[in-house]
Amino acid sequence: MIYPIVKYGNPVLEKPAETVTVFDEELQKLINDMFESMWAAQGVGLAAPQIGIGRRIAVIDVTFKEDPKAKLVLINPEIIHSEGRHTQSEGCLSIPDFRENVTRPNQVTVRAQDVHGRVFEKTGDELVARALLHETDHLNGKLYMSHLSALKRDLMKRRIRKLMKAGEW
Ligand code: NI
Repeated sequence: MIYPIVKYGNPVLEKPAETVTVFDEELQKLINDMFESMWAAQGVGLAAPQIGIGRRIAVIDVTFKEDPKAKLVLINPEIIHSEGRHTQSEGCLSIPDFRENVTRPNQVTVRAQDVHGRVFEKTGDELVARALLHETDHLNGKLYMSHLSALKRDLMKRRIRKLMKAGEW
């Protein structure tokens, strides 16, 4: 099933998501649906709140289906180490048609659970690090605009409000 993507303005995006405690078939199905929904929206990462589900689940595929081994499922993820700094243009499926430069650590290690509940750690750099941070932020109710300067963030929010008023959001 392909879920519609929830956009900025929906409170589910700014609320910390709930810890997953049950690792069953329903969870596996939801994860499959999240990959399908992410690809359908041309994304490389998707967090459950972005389909209106406030649970700590995220999927990532920075190769966009090229490499099946690149598929990452993160349940209850936590960033346990980060280093370096890297600035790059970043977007979000929930904030369509906007992109901004965001400075983030260049290498991070995440600790998470897989679909069976097994704990694992994954270290990634550059685009993978950015995706791990961006999606973990989502599960903490945080959007990438929170990493921008107040000036840039307010400008972005103003432009979005204008689109909302025009019925174009
Ligand atoms: Ni996002």
